[in-house]
Amino acid sequence: MWGTATSAYQIEGNNTNSDWWDWEKKSFGKVNGPHDISGEACDSYNRYGEDFNLSDALNQNAHRLSIEWARIQPRRDYFSCSEINHYRRVLEDLKKRNIKTVVTLHHFTNPKWFADMGGWENANAPEIFTEYVKRCAESFADLVDYWITINEPIVLIGSGYVVGIWPPNKKNPIKALVALVNLIKAHNEGYRVLKKTISNSKVGFAHNITRFNCSKSSNFLDSVVIKVLNFLFTDLVYIFTKNSSDFFGVNYYLEIELKNLRVLNDDRYGKTEMSGWPVSPQGLYRLLLALKKYNKPILITENGIADGKDVYREEFIVSHLYNIFKAISQGSDVIGYLYWSLLDNFEWHLGYAKKFGLIRVDRENNLERTLRNSAYTYADICKNNCINNSLIEKYKIK
Ligand code: GCO
Repeated sequence: MWGTATSAYQIEGNNTNSDWWDWEKKSFGKVNGPHDISGEACDSYNRYGEDFNLSDALNQNAHRLSIEWARIQPRRDYFSCSEINHYRRVLEDLKKRNIKTVVTLHHFTNPKWFADMGGWENANAPEIFTEYVKRCAESFADLVDYWITINEPIVLIGSGYVVGIWPPNKKNPIKALVALVNLIKAHNEGYRVLKKTISNSKVGFAHNITRFNCSKSSNFLDSVVIKVLNFLFTDLVYIFTKNSSDFFGVNYYLEIELKNLRVLNDDRYGKTEMSGWPVSPQGLYRLLLALKKYNKPILITENGIADGKDVYREEFIVSHLYNIFKAISQGSDVIGYLYWSLLDNFEWHLGYAKKFGLIRVDRENNLERTLRNSAYTYADICKNNCINNSLIEKYKIK
């Protein structure tokens, strides 16, 4: 499968019933300094057809999107038929183009009423979430190829409960642990409900994996520390979810290299607009080999670069794909690649400044979409199901 990934809150616009909506305004300037508010985002709630025309024209045969829980269930006791029908139309639009659908049920945002009940700290959170999962399973069974219950539990916990820069703005390790356990339970319960409702469904979750590595010249302590960090950031969540995952969703962006217990600051940082995100295509290769022991199909549910000038994106895509190819040649079972993202969108507390899109969205000019050059390169790869050798040579990829 070849395609791109997005999430509802980041592209739809006007998700007024979600916890982020009020929080963005309340926290403005206080928590993260002045920042953009999501507002109309890319207006993809209305312009999804235009977006899918582009995915289609770019030869993509798979697309990851998310359903906004707060739209489907704006109140605890009420599921909205009109919003269910809206998402049915969205998914039908992909299906009629023969594009496989990868649907995330929770991508960071919560309904306000759920957040008011204590959100993921509430002991009943998994059960409450499962009611919504059940309704989605019943409503979209015929239109979803791959289900992702929850996106990046570790990032949600890290940003919301450890660093405290996302709602609910806490810095509390105990609450972080409680919320993490509930997210894992919610996935496991969600898996059970999806399988019960749709026996042949394929269900997983998307795990953001920050990898750690050390160079040959690093000391023994470095190698011990990276083993521990890789266990915590890669394996811990998989260990508790492996029996309730038909495949592993992998969101991969960066690999941090340690030397003498310090983060090596090399030029890999300079290539992206995300500070502190070292680009490392070989890190993806190492990660895929490390995941072989789980014996699960792997779907790359996100991989991408913030690069508004589109200087590095082509090389980024080609070199990461080449490393996936190397891992596949050594037995890794990668079933698809979804580039993050189809279009520039709302990068959470970093607003609209970070440009991950294959497609540029002009915020000054009616959100007009224009294709970046790298979109054409990726379109060729998607069409041919292979990377042209001239690209490997162009970037001297090994
Ligand atoms: C995440 C999310 C996406 C981000 C993307 C780029 O990893 O935080 O899944 O919502 O936009 O990863 O940071």
